[in-house]
Amino acid sequence: MPGSGTGIYAHIVGWGMAVPEGVLTNKDLEAIVDTNDEWIRARTGIRERRIANERESTATLGYKAAQQALEVADILPAELDLIIVATSTPENIFPSTASLIQDWLGAGRAGAFDLSAACSGFVYGVNMATQAIRSGSIQKALVIGAETMSRVMDWQDRGTCILFGDGAGAVVLQASDVEGGVLSAVLRSDGSGYDLLGIPTVGSQDVDMDKVGANGHKMYKMFMVGGEVFKFATRVIGESVKEALEIAGLGLEDIDLIVPHQANDRIIKSAARSLGLDKNMFMSNVERYGNTSAASIPIALCEAIEQGRVQNGDDLVLVGFGGGLTWASMVVRWGVPEPDLRQATRFSKQRRQISYSVSRWRARSRRWRRQFNLHVTRIHPERGRVIRLRRKIDQYDSEDL
Ligand code: COA
Repeated sequence: MPGSGTGIYAHIVGWGMAVPEGVLTNKDLEAIVDTNDEWIRARTGIRERRIANERESTATLGYKAAQQALEVADILPAELDLIIVATSTPENIFPSTASLIQDWLGAGRAGAFDLSAACSGFVYGVNMATQAIRSGSIQKALVIGAETMSRVMDWQDRGTCILFGDGAGAVVLQASDVEGGVLSAVLRSDGSGYDLLGIPTVGSQDVDMDKVGANGHKMYKMFMVGGEVFKFATRVIGESVKEALEIAGLGLEDIDLIVPHQANDRIIKSAARSLGLDKNMFMSNVERYGNTSAASIPIALCEAIEQGRVQNGDDLVLVGFGGGLTWASMVVRWGVPEPDLRQATRFSKQRRQISYSVSRWRARSRRWRRQFNLHVTRIHPERGRVIRLRRKIDQYDSEDL
């Protein structure tokens, strides 16, 4: 198997997805911008998208998808070694969304970080996790693609706001000596296209702090040159899929299903044409969710599995493209245990629930202790009794951590 000198393979053994309940239809959009259902459907294939409510965020959606993925994999959060969240809409610049989810899950042994590669981020993340597993340095990783794109839309820009939606998808990868899993990956970037698609934020050279930059981009809002991005996407999908297949020692005829980034149905059709493949070889659910950026591939993968389109032994191709510009393709030989063996036992299900509850309480009590500690030292810094109390708290904190 290419690139697997260690004899260790990284298999996808769990998957999950979460989308907000709130639906925004093309008809609803007609009340917001000068557009219409017919135009949107004809140019993009999108009918509706999901929009997060005020209690939902990138982290809450990612957390739900992660819980499902752990359930399917039937592993405990404490078994995870690594959590990667691919996102362009993180909760904060830092701390990472991955760290928040790590805490909520109670994944006390996992490293966690966010990954920024726009709509290619999920494939980048799965490859990072795969390399760590194949090197033998870790056993189990959780890779999440999660977005609340609705929060970075310029709702006056009809060229972009009609395209995007919110959601999250996640997979668990696990080390195995059984051949298969992630067979190859091609990650690419062309930063000369940085001005075609992006979200300016703090530190941007283009944007002054009065919210509009020299080139007219609004701070924290997405901008896009749609036509150029369209041409870029249709070119790189074909090229990178062929390259990833070649590295895996496979041909187009070996592919059972392609799960592309869900940006636009016309892009998918054009990629199918350029590869000489039937459009049905491509999973598509863009009609119901729009473009959920880094979340779109894992959401589409989950729905393909649900629809029975993925079987053990199948060769799948995941292909993403987006801001950066970035693009990435990956070949995965599906090979997870039979469904009845993967069914979560009630015992481990309960242990996962306990882990989530304990984690919530532990985080609360740590925060409370830190606040109390701070309060005590601020109010009575000179009092010996308080200082002794503070030392005790410090000692307790360091033992706990
Ligand atoms: N509703 C109605 N009319 C619209 C519209 C909307 N939401 N948005 C643009 N238009 C108009 C334009 O103003 C233009 O009008 P004009 O001819 O009078 O000037 C006309 O429709 C055609 O616009 P154009 O931008 O050329 O359309 P298009 O066929 O390129 O489609 C996109 C626009 C955005 C759908 C298309 O370029 C696209 O999908 N690009 C890729 C975007 C993408 O996938 N990005 C994410 C990658 S991760």
